[in-house]
Amino acid sequence: MNEREKLDALLAKIEAANIAYHEHDAPEITDAKYDALRREAEAILAEHPEWREDASALAQVGGKPASGFRKIIHRTPMLSLDNVFDEEEFVEFIARIRRFLGLKDEALVFVAEPKMDGLSISLTYEHRKFARAATRGDGTEGEDVTANILTFRSLPKILPNDAPDFIEIRGEVYMTKDDFLALNSSQERQFANPRNAAAGSLRQLDPAVTAKRKLSLFAYAQGEASTLVAKTHWDYLEALKRWGFQVNPLSRLVNEDGTEAFQAEMGAGRAALPYDIDGVVYKVNDIALQNRLGFVGRAPRWAVAWKFPAERASTVLEDIEIQVGRTGALTPRARLRPVNVGGVLVTYATLHNEDEIARKDLRIGDIVELQRAGDVIPQILGVLKRGEHTRPFKFPDHCPVCGSLAVRVDDDVVRRCTGGLTCPAQVVERLIHFCSRGALDIEGMGEKTVREFHDAGLLRGAPDIFTLPRHQAEIAQREGWGEVSAAKLSAAIAARRAIGLARFIYALGIRRIGENNAKLLARHYSSYANWKEAMLAAQIIGSDARLELGSISGIGPAIAQDLLAFFAEEHNLATLAQLEAEVRVQDEEAATAIDSPLAGKVMVFTGTLSMARPEAKARAEALGAKVTEAVSKKTDYVVVGEDAGSKAKKAAELGIKIITEQEFRDLAGL
Ligand code: IVH
Repeated sequence: MNEREKLDALLAKIEAANIAYHEHDAPEITDAKYDALRREAEAILAEHPEWREDASALAQVGGKPASGFRKIIHRTPMLSLDNVFDEEEFVEFIARIRRFLGLKDEALVFVAEPKMDGLSISLTYEHRKFARAATRGDGTEGEDVTANILTFRSLPKILPNDAPDFIEIRGEVYMTKDDFLALNSSQERQFANPRNAAAGSLRQLDPAVTAKRKLSLFAYAQGEASTLVAKTHWDYLEALKRWGFQVNPLSRLVNEDGTEAFQAEMGAGRAALPYDIDGVVYKVNDIALQNRLGFVGRAPRWAVAWKFPAERASTVLEDIEIQVGRTGALTPRARLRPVNVGGVLVTYATLHNEDEIARKDLRIGDIVELQRAGDVIPQILGVLKRGEHTRPFKFPDHCPVCGSLAVRVDDDVVRRCTGGLTCPAQVVERLIHFCSRGALDIEGMGEKTVREFHDAGLLRGAPDIFTLPRHQAEIAQREGWGEVSAAKLSAAIAARRAIGLARFIYALGIRRIGENNAKLLARHYSSYANWKEAMLAAQIIGSDARLELGSISGIGPAIAQDLLAFFAEEHNLATLAQLEAEVRVQDEEAATAIDSPLAGKVMVFTGTLSMARPEAKARAEALGAKVTEAVSKKTDYVVVGEDAGSKAKKAAELGIKIITEQEFRDLAGL
């Protein structure tokens, strides 16, 4: 037997023992024998770490990973859904689809499914056998919870022959209301709601704990699959049921005009359901249409979550506190007498800005009405009853942290600290942002550590992060640290010396440049050098670079202004120069990795095409092209439809390649 065969034999024995122990409650071998099998398997894996992927049996109960969960990259990213809150917004969602597809009279059919309030999970089956399970994580990479999911009795371990050889099945892990109440009454630790209880129970390093908690799973979507399962989402759900998955029995096929009635029905029935739902998800049934519609940012165009109206409660406004964010914004927040809103204990609410406090005439001591919609921080709707001893709130005109003047520029609703990088609050918030998950994602550099190092004088700005390893010995001496944790931190920092462009842009913490906008910029400019050069060139009004920036879809004028403002600041350029010496910013892959004749090409569409314009644009972008409005020297192709006008003329003058819609379709393989 070679090493691989030996490993497989060991894994088979371990798996059998796991099943006997956990599923049948009837151990077949002694603990000592079980441990010996595991040790042998681990010894082989130490020589061949590349086989670890296949060793899911080892991750099972009893096999506690040394620290944290292993990461799993989703083959197809796990996306989120856009929300709508009323009929008007829902109607707009449908109208957008119709416009995108250029539909005339054809009615759209949707599958309506209750929106489960749990946590999403991706189950991977290889060769029709359950291989692993991962949480959503950041959508690209989740945590390996295979061992925990294996404790679910109802999980199909093997799929029948009509299932694809490889498939990622997505669904929601949830806890019923009864199981949640029983769990809370059985232990001291109290979960705020069934969703938190489900998440806390699944993300257990010891799967034995998960096994004791009652969790359930509804399957509702697919990720990557080696072959097409069905032509419609409804048939896909039917297949899931045949394969043994639980599919929410309330799911229904509805016509465009049946959606409102379904929404009302679910809203009325929700309280009586055994589990929490917070809305209804509507998905275009026809999968070919889904594919044409595609995605925008992190959400599909073909689905939406129509949320139920928010839950409300009233309580006393105890105080108004001011927080200073990384862009210097002074944000008020309300501290409340704790109150339960739809199952969640609320102590803080957002107040947005000072005008809102004035508009609502909020005074400390008032009884206020608040509402909570889904995940968002609760909002104060207004004063219900003036308290007996209230005092008005005066919004500070100085930064509560650094004492600098705080001003409102032009018609900005936000008051900002003028201290800039001399304001410790801003510096710290920027540093926290820089190290955070969507940014550099430096393990071990959470909020607490950043504050600690900042207070100790080890960190003044982002570039200092990379000098921390030089202070490793000093860090090891600090209270709560040690040789091991200091070394780990150095390693985590070293691991981030190469970083993707989108993450890097996001990490800079430029106003209004969140993860999505950072991605848009990264895809458009593809390399750091390109981006920086363009941002500097765009400082000049009327320059090609500024026009180009203005033409990136999704980047509006306000965002462009903030970007230019960032590059206009000397100290930001100095920080960039320092960072350049420390990190290698990698080119954005998405734009270049796509193997298509349109990858990296700059395109302009003009005139009337047979395909609706939004679809043409989305198709081109999906193939790696950048679609802009204006024709410039950088344009590679101008696609002309009927009655094309000035743009076609300009293209001809500049000698840019002009192609017909058919030629575009050929290039795009449509
Ligand atoms: S489909 C690309 N269906 O809602 C479509 N999601 O807000 C991906 N969720 O992360 C999701 N019930 O955790 C879908 N019937 C349902 C759902 C559902 C709950 C959750 C899911 C997702 C989140 C997005």
